[in-house]
Amino acid sequence: MSHTVAVINLDLPGATISRHVYGHFAEHLGRCIYGGFWVGEDSDVPNEGGIRLDVVEALRELQIPNLRWPGGCFADDYHWRDGVGPREQRPRMVNSHWGDVVEDNSFGTHEFMALCELLGADPYISGNVGSGSVQEMSEWIEYLTRADDSPMAALRRANGRDEPWKVPFFGIGNEAWGCGGHLRAEQFASLARQYSTYVRNHAGNEVYRIAAGASDHDYHWTETLMKSFDPLDAGNGPAAPFQGISLHYYTFTGEWSDKGWATEFSTDEWYLALARAAHMDELLDRHGAVMDRYDPKKRVGLVVDEWGTWWNVEKGTNPGFLYQQNTLRDALVASLHFDAFHRHADRVVMANIAQTVNVLQAMLLTDPDTNALVRTPTFHVFAMNAGHHDAAALDVHLVDDVPTRSVDGGDLALVSASASTKGDTALVSLTNLDADAPRTVVLDLRGRDVVGHSARVLTADAANAHNTAERPDAVIPVALETVRKHDRGLEVELPAHSYATVELTLA
Ligand code: AHR
Repeated sequence: MSHTVAVINLDLPGATISRHVYGHFAEHLGRCIYGGFWVGEDSDVPNEGGIRLDVVEALRELQIPNLRWPGGCFADDYHWRDGVGPREQRPRMVNSHWGDVVEDNSFGTHEFMALCELLGADPYISGNVGSGSVQEMSEWIEYLTRADDSPMAALRRANGRDEPWKVPFFGIGNEAWGCGGHLRAEQFASLARQYSTYVRNHAGNEVYRIAAGASDHDYHWTETLMKSFDPLDAGNGPAAPFQGISLHYYTFTGEWSDKGWATEFSTDEWYLALARAAHMDELLDRHGAVMDRYDPKKRVGLVVDEWGTWWNVEKGTNPGFLYQQNTLRDALVASLHFDAFHRHADRVVMANIAQTVNVLQAMLLTDPDTNALVRTPTFHVFAMNAGHHDAAALDVHLVDDVPTRSVDGGDLALVSASASTKGDTALVSLTNLDADAPRTVVLDLRGRDVVGHSARVLTADAANAHNTAERPDAVIPVALETVRKHDRGLEVELPAHSYATVELTLA
């Protein structure tokens, strides 16, 4: 039987894959915060200070490294002072982007920071450029991180928190070309410099500022932000006044107004979704090439702080709440993104899937009536990939018979792979995109002796298999038994439509 050969030089570690590419995103949108993370202290759902403990426990399994909040588009409507102080006195607002519902601000800064502490995750605060002021942003970081008796530190204390928090990541606006103000790239580049200046480092808290970046193929936006930096070719210090720029890219198969369905799709739509997910690799190449022209030393980070599938909402749910199911296809969309992030570890410093609970490509779905919690197939890809966190990327050269399929005007490779190494271990990720055929991949392992291995696979009988409260384990990882020794290393038989990880023990 023909097979694909993957050559991996185990002794040639590359750039570190930041654990932050396994980051998450929680917006005030639909049931992500309310009903997802937050049930309130009086709820029957077990909670700590109003935060759902089952959700925390599940996300801790993923060792989630960071959480972006409060948006998305919501962030540029959000005024942080409305979300601090006694909850019953907090003003209300209209969430005009997401369902036009009234937001009571019961989940605000203190609740978010408590959530991050429970998760063991770094906070990534998304600041308001679109409708906020420089002063408001400046005071928020002071409120969060200042230790002495400054006005904002005193206000924080009056609201019940003595110690400052650590806030390593701060977003300067969101989608400034769209919901964040409909600005031109040149206009926003100036504002990003100005706002970033006032997001100060207080009390030893070092902030990594991320300016709202491009969507999809908008290389002009990336180039304009890169041009706005102070000269980057001198010295080795961090870039100023912001240190990273973002990129947003969503996967769907139809038009914006009819994106395709999460669970009902044809074989062509299976391949189209995966081809569009694999396109992330080209986007990173091309945005990266623009960045390289201005920053060959790669001191500016690329932060893919929104990515994932975006399907039509589940029938009967609020169209503004973006609630969708999540199948094996979504899991493979995730594995392809991670392969791309691993390959670009020298530039991609962070990524945040949209979004963590009940919105878009979620890790977790909660039932609004029974409160049952379901882990999605995408959750399991994150779990299977935990070994890549902060590991050194290894190049994987796919040679000999890589099957392809013509999709969307291009050739889609039906095998995708990436690998990393940490100490005496290595982790290899393998995706078989073929909807129908199994695939054998020979791992040609060079440079170090392999003294042990174990493997897991995520698959199901049907490509649209998904987990529900009734069948929460329809798609879960199991041991992959079809890994055999081979003259060149190991031979791995991948089932059709599957994702597998092979963990190697090295001498
Ligand atoms: O994730 C949903 C929305 O998608 C975000 O609010 C926005 O930034 C993007 O358009």
